[in-house]
Parts: sequence; C-alpha cells; structure tokens
Amino acid sequence: MTRRFIIKEIHQQKLKDQKAVIKGWVKSVRTAKWGAFIVVNDGSCQRDIQCVADKDIEGFEETVAKLSIGCSIALTGNLVESQGRVKAIEMQVESCELIGGVSEDYPLQKKATSLEFLREVAHLRSRTNTFGAVFRVRHALAFATHKFFNDRGFYYLNTPIITSSDAEGAGDMFRVSTLKKGESDYSKDYFGQETFLCVSGQLEGETFAQGMGAIYTFGPTFRSENSNTARHLAEFWMIEPEVAFFDLEDNAQLASDYLKYLISYAMENCLEELEFLQQMYKKDLIETLNHVKDSPFEKITYTEAVEILNNSGKKFEYQATWGSDLQTEHERFLAEEHFNKPVIVTDYPKDIKAFYMKLNEDGKTVRAMDVLVPGVGEIIGGSQREDDYEKLLSRMKEMDLKEEDYWWYLELRKFGSVPHSGFGLGFERAVMYITGMSNIRDVIAYPRYPNNAKF
Ligand code: 4AD
Repeated sequence: MTRRFIIKEIHQQKLKDQKAVIKGWVKSVRTAKWGAFIVVNDGSCQRDIQCVADKDIEGFEETVAKLSIGCSIALTGNLVESQGRVKAIEMQVESCELIGGVSEDYPLQKKATSLEFLREVAHLRSRTNTFGAVFRVRHALAFATHKFFNDRGFYYLNTPIITSSDAEGAGDMFRVSTLKKGESDYSKDYFGQETFLCVSGQLEGETFAQGMGAIYTFGPTFRSENSNTARHLAEFWMIEPEVAFFDLEDNAQLASDYLKYLISYAMENCLEELEFLQQMYKKDLIETLNHVKDSPFEKITYTEAVEILNNSGKKFEYQATWGSDLQTEHERFLAEEHFNKPVIVTDYPKDIKAFYMKLNEDGKTVRAMDVLVPGVGEIIGGSQREDDYEKLLSRMKEMDLKEEDYWWYLELRKFGSVPHSGFGLGFERAVMYITGMSNIRDVIAYPRYPNNAKF
C-alpha cells in the first residue's frame, strides 16, 4: 500500500520521484480542457501542495470534476519537482477519492473572509490560512515554553483549577458550586466552603518553589472582570515561573530571556507562518521581532514612567498621576512611542498592587514589575514576594484579607523563608504579540468573554 505523507514532510524533505498518498481539504480547484489543478492543504504546514490531474485518469469526471473548496480528499500519485521557476514539489495525480463532500452552505467558499465573520464560525476557522498560521505558532510557543524552562532546570507544576483562595486579592472570580437555586450556605456546598476557578496559580507555585527551587505553571486561568476589550479574556492561559533565592533583577532578566527565546523559537520554526501573517496583518512584523530579540529591554521605575508621561507633551484621556495605575494609553505610549521596544516598569505604589509584593524601604512602593510591549501593552506582571511574616500579615490586614484563608501561605514565611520572585505571562498576549494579531479572540480556539461562550 502506498504510504500517506503529510504535506509538511513532503515540502521539508523535498520528497520527489516517489509515490505517495496525500489526504487533506481542497483549497482551490481549477479545471481546464486537459484536466485540473487541485490545491490541497492538510493543516500540517502553511504551504499547500499543488496536484495536477490529467483528464484521462480513472474516475476524473466522477470525482475531480465535481470537487469544490472544502471537500476532503485522498490523492494518490507521484511527487515531482514542478517545472516552474520555483522548484516546488507537486503531485502528478493517478487517482482521486472524495472522502467528504461540501454542501452549498459552506461558509468558507469565498476566498476573503473577515476575522469578525470567522469568529462566528469558530468551529471552521482552523481551515483558513490565517488560523492555521496562528495556531501553529501558538503550538510552537507552548512547546518552546516547556523547552525554555526545562533547559533551565525548572519543574513543571500543575496547580489547582478549583481553589478557595483569591490569589490576586482582586475578587474577579467565577464561583464553583453545586448548591441548588435559593441555597446559600456554602458549608453545605460540595467542598464545604466557597470555591472558585483560579485567577492565578502563583500562591501554590510559591509553596513548591520553596521546596523544589524553581517551578513554572502553564494552565488555564479565569477572571470574571467585565472587560470587553481586544486584550482581555475570561478564560486565558498563563505561564507562571516562581523561583527561590531570586530577586526582582533576576526576575526581570528571566522575563526578558524568556520573551526573547519565544521570539527566536518562532522565527526558527514558524517562519512561513510569520511571513504569511506579516503580509496579511502587520507589515513590519518580522523586522520588529528581530529588533526585540536583539536589543535589551528598557527598564524604568513607575515614578520615572509617570515623569516621562507628564513631560511628553501628549494629551492623554487620563492624566498620569503618581499613585494611580497606568492606563492602557500610558502603557502603549511608553512601549510604542517613547521607547519603541519592550519596557519593564518596576516599583509601583503599593496601593495599586497585590498584597503579596515585597515592600520597598520607602514604605510606599513595592518590588513589582510589569513588562509592556508595543501593540499589546502589558504582557507580563510579576514581583519579588514579601518574605517577612509580620510585613505580609500587616499588609493583608490593611487590605481586609482574612488571615485564616491564607494561613498556609503565611506559614511559608515562618519556616525557612527565602527571598523569591516570579511572574505571569499571559499566553494569548504573547501569541498576539508574536503573530501580530490585534484581537485576543483570534489567538485562542474558543474565546470566552462577557456574553460569549457559545461554542
Ligand atoms: O498581572 P497579573 O494579574 O499577574 C498575576 O496573575 C500574578 N499572579 C502573576 C505572577 O506574578 N505569578 O496577570 C499576569 C498576566 C498579565 O500581564 C497579562 O498578560 C495576563 O496575565 N492577563 C490576561 N490575559 C488575558 N485576559 C485577561 N483577562 C488577563 N488578565 C491578565
């Protein structure tokens, strides 16, 4: 029996003068007097394969002549080098089998379909060049993440998805409950207490970093904040490294090394995808990625950032004032206009950051860091953690967090406490940044956001 090859192997190995079976979906079909050109893709790579079927092959009229875009087919034939200027591999078809036909209401008949429209047919969009490209890059970045951390001696940790603690202390949580309508006594609920979907695995990550040295999580994360924007999802994936004996400088270095590694990995392994996305969506994508990969990230304090914003002469909708959080317009100005590269902003006022961040000696700021990138804004949030028991407890009291909910987290500060740091990278924001896609809903298979969970 003739072996089936995926199109990626055929192009990568330049397989020629060889009999093969190709299975995939018809991208286009052009018939002429002599026969037909059938362009096929099987999702394995960006490049399609052109298959040439002469009219006199067996069953031409019953199969090839009836093909339309989207049909699934199996082709058997010889792989040959094309005659044209680009010596691509193509197939000289000997037989064509129709596997699945396409009814007239197939929504992807037309070549050009908008991203908005494709969100309405999310179950089919992986068939398009755009989504094939984005999701192959997404895969590569996930793989690169494991490789990066594994090569540096980090252990992959799976932290719980159902949790009873609010890791960010911000309250944007989805409840998990089996109580019936009208019941509100959580002591009678499944877990005997209130539980939620996790907003971060950090606190549990910290406990393992203080036993195993360096860990990272990579898992689903849920936030019920009502943010209907192109950068927010209610369900997203986050990578959270956490390292013992690590201060904020070490943390910033790790974040910058990791982002650069992701870019390099994508450039080495997904260049055809990036070239396609560049051509379609972001004209300077590859140049920008190269620039970011090769230049050091800018590092400024929050106080310096506010000064830069106020001296910029630019009119913002909200003026930047010391003590209030940077708005998206501020973050974008810093990363896009002022520095035009990733910027690490450190030492934010304690009142706008989470309870677990280490207090600086000034008593006003904490050892926080946000990494801002052009086009996306905040891509990473992290900090050095408060490792002093009394300081952490008093900060929790100031923020009205219940000591009994975090007793185990506090105990870490009693038993061999060490300076430690970590950060969270929003995986979809990284995928957006590296693919140049401008809406987060186009880089996750089935996006969840307010009023949308329909697929
Ligand atoms: O800044 P955040 O909230 O930090 C944490 O959750 C920390 N526990 C991380 C840590 O130190 N281990 O979130 C981290 C990143 C953000 O920079 C952003 O990229 C992403 O997660 N993120 C979101 N991505 C998509 N949709 C949302 N609603 C997001 N909220 C945060």
